[in-house]
Amino acid sequence: MALLTLLLQASVALSAVQCASAKQPNILFILTDDQDWHMRSFEHMPFLQKYLVHEGTLYANHFCTVAICCPSRVNLWTGRAAHNTNVTDIFAPYGGYPKVVREGINDDYLPVWMQNAGYNTYYTGKLWNQHSVDNYNDPFARGYNGSDFILDPNTYEYYNAYMSRNNGPPVSYKGEYSPDVTAQKAYGFLEEATQHPEPWFLTIAPIAPHSNVKLEPFKDLESDVPQYAERHAHLFKDYKIPRDANFNPSKQGGTGWIKKLPLLNDTVIEYNDEFQRSRLRALQSVDEMIEQLVKTLDQKGLLDDTYIIYTTDNGYHLSQHRLHAGKECGYDTDIHIPLIVRGPTVPKGHTTSLVSSHTDLAPTIMRLAGATRDDFDGLAMPFSRQDILEAESTTRHEHVNIEFWGRALPEGKYGQYDNPDGRTGGPDWAGDLPTVRNNTYKGLRLIGQDYSIYYSVWCTGDREYYDMTRDPGQLENYFDDDDEKMVAKRDAYELAGRPFAHVVDRLDALMMVLKSCKGRACVEPWSVLQPKSGIRMLQDALEQKYDVFYNEQPKVSFDECALGYIREFEGPQEVNVMGAWDQELSEPKMRKAPSFVYHGNPHLLT
Ligand SMILES: *[C@@H]1O[C@H](CO)[C@@H](O)[C@H](O)[C@H]1NC(C)=O
Ligand SMILES: *[C@@H]1O[C@H](CO)[C@@H](O)[C@H](O)[C@H]1NC(C)=O
Ligand SMILES: *[C@@H]1O[C@H](CO)[C@@H](O)[C@H](O)[C@H]1NC(C)=O
Ligand SMILES: *[C@@H]1O[C@H](CO)[C@@H](O)[C@H](O)[C@H]1NC(C)=O
Repeated sequence: MALLTLLLQASVALSAVQCASAKQPNILFILTDDQDWHMRSFEHMPFLQKYLVHEGTLYANHFCTVAICCPSRVNLWTGRAAHNTNVTDIFAPYGGYPKVVREGINDDYLPVWMQNAGYNTYYTGKLWNQHSVDNYNDPFARGYNGSDFILDPNTYEYYNAYMSRNNGPPVSYKGEYSPDVTAQKAYGFLEEATQHPEPWFLTIAPIAPHSNVKLEPFKDLESDVPQYAERHAHLFKDYKIPRDANFNPSKQGGTGWIKKLPLLNDTVIEYNDEFQRSRLRALQSVDEMIEQLVKTLDQKGLLDDTYIIYTTDNGYHLSQHRLHAGKECGYDTDIHIPLIVRGPTVPKGHTTSLVSSHTDLAPTIMRLAGATRDDFDGLAMPFSRQDILEAESTTRHEHVNIEFWGRALPEGKYGQYDNPDGRTGGPDWAGDLPTVRNNTYKGLRLIGQDYSIYYSVWCTGDREYYDMTRDPGQLENYFDDDDEKMVAKRDAYELAGRPFAHVVDRLDALMMVLKSCKGRACVEPWSVLQPKSGIRMLQDALEQKYDVFYNEQPKVSFDECALGYIREFEGPQEVNVMGAWDQELSEPKMRKAPSFVYHGNPHLLT
């Protein structure tokens, strides 16, 4: 009888836990460093394919919004656009851990919110840039029940990591392979997490496949191919980077400093192929970790209660557009990234074309946790078959707002540009690094039913427009006035039956809203411009009766190429909002300027 009671109690207790965990699932988040979609390295990770892609959903139109680590990670862990976090660089004064702290983000980001929602939280690997052996305790990174952070300045030395465990003094892992060390820590935290009755949120952020970097902050930087574990040295011997149209193209596209780049020579191309082989090898350690984690979850009977999210902070280019190794550009190589999710509700073996970005992940994870906030600039993503199918049929939204401030920094031992804008480095950042300075731009990636576009406006006044249904490699810039062929193409261009200038008017207006949007305005930007018209997509806004309204909008512009988000240099901030009275009228003279302006206040919308 006593035994029966005990058993009954045990099963009641068990079902209570199961019930709680069904409501609040465990979340395992794997975040690699610099893993692009374009070169498809995720297809060379057999365990990722077996355990996540085949057992889950591949989000084929997922983007980061700022193509560099620290700003992108802040975007990811806050669900807020970079123009709202104002962490826009990897180092001071515009970015890095001290800036994260100064902006209040260390006290107010996803792990803290998850703890408040009842989760135990764990993190191992790289958290931010400039999170270092000198400042890791000033203050400690908040929000984790267990942590083991890889610290600067050694973050990208694959065989020479320093890590701080649970806020303890940094420990050297010299001679050990950093992604393998991170994997070991992850197994430990998984063990610890599963000892407690509460649901858990474990993030694993290995440095693979980032380049190997020796960093002397504010002085020097020596970057080379990523290093790998000895056991993977024999792999990918014959691999070459896909020779896509934009691979070291004979006819260069782009604008600004990119347009001026010379062809890469054979020495650099061979080096870059080896660079990518090394990236693939480095990723094999991550791949093995995936198998180990999935098997452990399975053994513990937790696999069906756990969401596994696999992604990266930003993409990477490596010979595309004649670029040396690196990121920081607005091209798909740099912003289009893999996102793979497996979990209780997630369809198996599905690939979805839904458009999403890192801004959407914090809202998504909060929703899984049964919690919410009202300061998100993103929209929770559908994770169940029904929601995904529904979103696919209604077009959830078609835009991604891309932002970048500051420099482009070529990596690898040949990573140097011939000073195309007449200036390198700068005393305000990193000595005489071979950086390109005028790399501040705003971008808009739009993927609709019948179109796929990238539009950008640079601090230099340069602009780009690529029609990616015809030109997926982004080589034909319709704003290239020096190219007669492009000028002719532009004159003949039509999208949804509308000429180029009218299309660009709409994109400009959309970018005007997105560059300073907050909250729902970031998700439904058309409704800021035309609150009463029910417009959700570019093709609706392209209607001829709106031509004057869009033509008269203030345009995105910059007064100066700043290295951070200095609003005074960023041109007009307000858009014209279509008044209720003039929207349906077809007489052009009646469709005059609107009555009030949008000041970036999301409450106007609700
Ligand atoms: C995890 O940390 C939170 C916040 O400090 C705390 O409330 C919770 O009890 C901790 N969990 C465990 C298992 O210690
Ligand atoms: C190839 O280009 C690199 C980088 O610009 C340069 O350092 C190298 O000398 C060049 N090699 C040859 C053989 O021209
Ligand atoms: C690049 O930026 C510098 C500093 O803001 C500026 O002086 C220069 O004119 C810019 N170059 C171009 C091509 O706009
Ligand atoms: C962003 O931060 C920089 C550096 O702290 C500051 O100068 C700038 O004014 C901030 N921008 C905005 C829009 O708050």
